[in-house]
Amino acid sequence: MNLNELKEHFAADTAFDSLYPIHIQKLSAIHWTPLHVALTAARFLAPNKKAHVLDIGAGVGKFCITAGMFTKGKFTGIEQRKNFVQAGNKVIRQMGLTNVELLHGNFTDLDPTQYTGIYFYNSFHENIVLEDSLDERVERSSELYDHYTTHLLYQLNSMPVGTRLATYWLSITEIPGSYRMTEQHYGSHLKLWIKER
Ligand SMILES: C[S@@+](CC[C@H](N)C(=O)[O-])C[C@H]1O[C@@H](n2cnc3c(N)ncnc32)[C@H](O)[C@@H]1O
Repeated sequence: MNLNELKEHFAADTAFDSLYPIHIQKLSAIHWTPLHVALTAARFLAPNKKAHVLDIGAGVGKFCITAGMFTKGKFTGIEQRKNFVQAGNKVIRQMGLTNVELLHGNFTDLDPTQYTGIYFYNSFHENIVLEDSLDERVERSSELYDHYTTHLLYQLNSMPVGTRLATYWLSITEIPGSYRMTEQHYGSHLKLWIKER
């Protein structure tokens, strides 16, 4: 992909989404982070080239790819749906991005403490509102929602002081008190946090 083509794909959400097959494009409005939101979150999460950010529930990589394109940080996404990981990694290769990767798996099997920042876009919601499911490929249940939420809060608590966190459309009622919210954007849907103790 040449520079002009790259620029065109980041000019609008529909232009970015057109990199993916139609059935994935259709999920974008509800399930993928809009470009302008991804950019604001990325600049906070990756203030320098030492930053390594984990997207918990990365989908087809829209946040990671946008963040990797416009900051100097490194971005890793963990995603449970293999077809999303394959589609995202194809786009990463097409764009020639070397600071972005998508891994296939469940976030509960990953140790997040090696990362300097975490991005989280309400990834467990489909377990409690089944009609908002992305597809039928994975198991969904309120028990899984509770399990994932408890595990995420445990992981957040175990992160080192200074960890940066960005949450978008958070439905989890609380982030551990060890995190201080430093900024809110886009009608408070994007919240930016730093772990202070
Ligand atoms: C709302 S989408 C967000 C996608 C991406 N972060 C973005 O902003 O463009 C949430 C994603 O989380 C994934 N997900 C949900 N639970 C997961 C889990 N336990 N482990 C890994 N991925 C998960 C879903 O498959 C879905 O693709």
